[in-house]
Amino acid sequence: MGLLDKLSDWLGLRKKEVNVLCVGLDNSGKTTIINQLKPSNHSNHLGPLSPEWKHVSQTQAQEIVPTIGYNIEKFKSSSLSFTVFDMSGQSRYRNLWEHYYKESHAIIFVIDSGDQLRMVVAKEELHNFLNHSDIRCKKIPLLFYANKMDLRDAVSSVRVSQMLCLENIKDKPWHICASNAVEGEGIKEGLDWLQGNV
Ligand code: GTP
Ligand code: MG
Repeated sequence: MGLLDKLSDWLGLRKKEVNVLCVGLDNSGKTTIINQLKPSNHSNHLGPLSPEWKHVSQTQAQEIVPTIGYNIEKFKSSSLSFTVFDMSGQSRYRNLWEHYYKESHAIIFVIDSGDQLRMVVAKEELHNFLNHSDIRCKKIPLLFYANKMDLRDAVSSVRVSQMLCLENIKDKPWHICASNAVEGEGIKEGLDWLQGNV
């Protein structure tokens, strides 16, 4: 750590660095959620989260494609500096998730509320995650987005919570919000909760 960094730490000027791991099955909407936090291409405004939240560099992607491996995005709020690891949910890349558990300070777990067929797979991945040695004893906050609430077949966030047995999570703070990542609805509520719990 440089002298200037030490001085800003001492003065309390440096933003706290927070690593957020974003996981969930493929096609659940992780990248779309994170894309919503970036400033839009068509205005000078900074995304739906301005002015408290700022994305560090790029603007919103016009087209979201399935993530290969993972992407890293950086955001700043008034007091925190976030690095978000947007992991691919495809089964062949899910073994990458665990490499980031140790250094994560918060988790975003995204569920496609319209994909009831694969809810059991999401539950299994959540179970594996919660029982991993790098997560089991850690009291990190878990934010669940019951995404795609706009779909006709979508189940409510309460139902998603029941299907994933979230009430069994007793040793970590958790929160679930319904979201529509395409329209950006419900995203800010979740992030505000996360910011208050890291
Ligand atoms: P992987 O990178 O493969 O793990 O997928 P992902 O979880 O990042 O999903 P992604 O953000 O790529 O979204 C998958 C598809 O779902 C895209 O076509 C999105 O436009 C769509 N999508 C995302 N969120 C919503 C939502 O809230 N409602 C609807 N209707 N579609 C959504
Ligand atoms: Mg993705």
